[in-house]
Amino acid sequence: MIYRYRFGRPFPTEAVMRDIPVSQGEPVYGSFEPGQGFSFKVRMDARDAIYGLGENVRGINKRGFEYISDASDDPFHYETTRSLYGAHNFILVSGERSVGLFFDQPARMTFDLGYSKQDTIHIYSESGNLDVYMIEAECEEKVVREFRQLIGRSYIPPRFAFGYGQSRWGYKTPEDFREVVREHRQAHVPLDMVYMDIDYMDHFKDFTVDPVNFPDFPAFVKEMKEQHIQLVPIIDAGVKIEPGYDVYEEGVEQGFFCTYEDDSCFTACVWPGYTHFPDILNPLARAWFGSYYKRLTDAGIEGFWNDMCEPAIFFTPEELKKTRAAMKESLDLDEPVSQPQRIADLVRSMSNNHADYRRMFHHVNGERICHEDVHNLFGYGMTRAAGEAFERDEPEKRRLMFSRSSYIGAHRYGGIWMGDNMSWWSHLRMNLAMLPSLNMCGFLYTGADLAGFGADTTRDLALRWLALGVFTPLMRNHSCNGTRRQEFYRFEGTDDFRTVIRVRYQLLPYLYSTFVKAALEDRMMFKPLAFDYPGDPIARECEDQLMLGDECMITPVVQQNAFGRVVYLPEEMMLVMLGGDGTKASRILPAGHHYIEVELNEVPLFVRPGKCIPLAEPGEYVDDIDAEDLTLVGYVGSTYELFWDDGYGKNYEKETNFRIMKM
Ligand code: GLC
Repeated sequence: MIYRYRFGRPFPTEAVMRDIPVSQGEPVYGSFEPGQGFSFKVRMDARDAIYGLGENVRGINKRGFEYISDASDDPFHYETTRSLYGAHNFILVSGERSVGLFFDQPARMTFDLGYSKQDTIHIYSESGNLDVYMIEAECEEKVVREFRQLIGRSYIPPRFAFGYGQSRWGYKTPEDFREVVREHRQAHVPLDMVYMDIDYMDHFKDFTVDPVNFPDFPAFVKEMKEQHIQLVPIIDAGVKIEPGYDVYEEGVEQGFFCTYEDDSCFTACVWPGYTHFPDILNPLARAWFGSYYKRLTDAGIEGFWNDMCEPAIFFTPEELKKTRAAMKESLDLDEPVSQPQRIADLVRSMSNNHADYRRMFHHVNGERICHEDVHNLFGYGMTRAAGEAFERDEPEKRRLMFSRSSYIGAHRYGGIWMGDNMSWWSHLRMNLAMLPSLNMCGFLYTGADLAGFGADTTRDLALRWLALGVFTPLMRNHSCNGTRRQEFYRFEGTDDFRTVIRVRYQLLPYLYSTFVKAALEDRMMFKPLAFDYPGDPIARECEDQLMLGDECMITPVVQQNAFGRVVYLPEEMMLVMLGGDGTKASRILPAGHHYIEVELNEVPLFVRPGKCIPLAEPGEYVDDIDAEDLTLVGYVGSTYELFWDDGYGKNYEKETNFRIMKM
């Protein structure tokens, strides 16, 4: 059952797809508190768990901390960071009752989940304009399903997007890309995508290609495709201010950029220098910005990643002026030590400053709207711009699209990656925990920068992270300029990397099928153990294992110098050890705790009783996989329903796409 409560005059976020009648009076759960803005409180029982909140720090059970929905560019996030790149205002309280709560409002919002008072959930915002949805159902999974039906079907990418991708900020020339492909092919390490970070552009101008490095870009795209490689370019939020650059000139002329209060274009410095932001909430401006993707799809490109769309701001002329004045003042002092932190703080606070978001305006259906009130929608708008354009240009074809920033609703148009992370074991654990939380919020196509984006990775972290990445729909190795190189061929013992990455391709029919079925049925691909074993107190606390589809449980190794790990089996299961030297046969383990050894080139997978999964011959790229030649592993007598279509069309329901396989 879904209830909706309305406050003030909410901005139409279009996160929700169904029109639920507005309920009046007391809510069915908790209470709305009188006062300024918005405030909701509900008491929890001592053992209630809280799930959801999509992209966020900490574990799967979110209880005991305070989170703030406020899309932020923050690569150095820790346990105490309150906001990440996305803002996903859905939580699920699980105890005697299972209740889902969605707070549909795009301004900053605080989720105090037993942080100030251990038995109280307090959710509040300065903005008093929102819709609140309350969902009651008999179990966690059903709450999620009802919520997902409310927000609409999750995005499904083309099948090549389930292959392995190599990325690094710094690839610039055709030779850089060719080298990546050559190394993979020579070593028989499967590869489907190479990502193009900002250096492919002409001076970081969106929808341009560096004419010196790529004098014939379509020919280069073709050359890569002949080797079964898709190039996936990045598109940034900021449009460079440069007379003569048509995107800039058209945007100014048509009034399609965000403005200041006086309607002149809002200016912010990002990678290209000073830029304007497309007014992505204005449907006309969105269609205009989206229309430029065609420049690259016409050259043969079939996928993109949208970046810097919180939108991230390095500084604005206003904040720069303030900081420079303070620096000058400090230089004039003999001993500028009275406020030692002042300059450093000012410099730091120049980026992503809310004072700038308050200066920035959108123009939607004749109304001027302050960006601060709709901040969390920018990334969603950009994904939507691309998604809507793809639909217009080629309605029958799926394209790859994923974004850094997002809000619920964006899940219908694209996926997300988990933003800039670090080569830290704690971020590997965070990657794992985010998977079910994101699935609850509709984001199925997701994954983290494998091996870590910032900081120097290590060989073992890279291998362990890839072994988790084997299961995540987006499997991409990406790293920051200036950090230790982390393509597989930069390490000693590259055989281990080949072995792990090939596991992904063995599992590809199963993962693709599980993904598409989850999208079509509004279900999760990854679930906390608690959802499948609600009566099991140990399963409820298990935060480093996940259920995958209806058939499996995954148990990645997330600790350095560990030769294996302790796993918890809520019931008897079959351990299938993938990778390795192929000699470790599958074996059945009884319910309970076990220590299993896991070599750096092994990927453990547990199959549930009465289930089986298909395995393929790995192949060098996705189209090389023969879905007619699959082997089932699991319990004798079980069946698996495989989804396998043409890989890019949208006729999912076609009968021949489904096949029952018997073990
Ligand atoms: C941002 C992105 C990162 C990219 C970099 C340069 O930090 O999150 O993935 O490599 O910008 O474009």
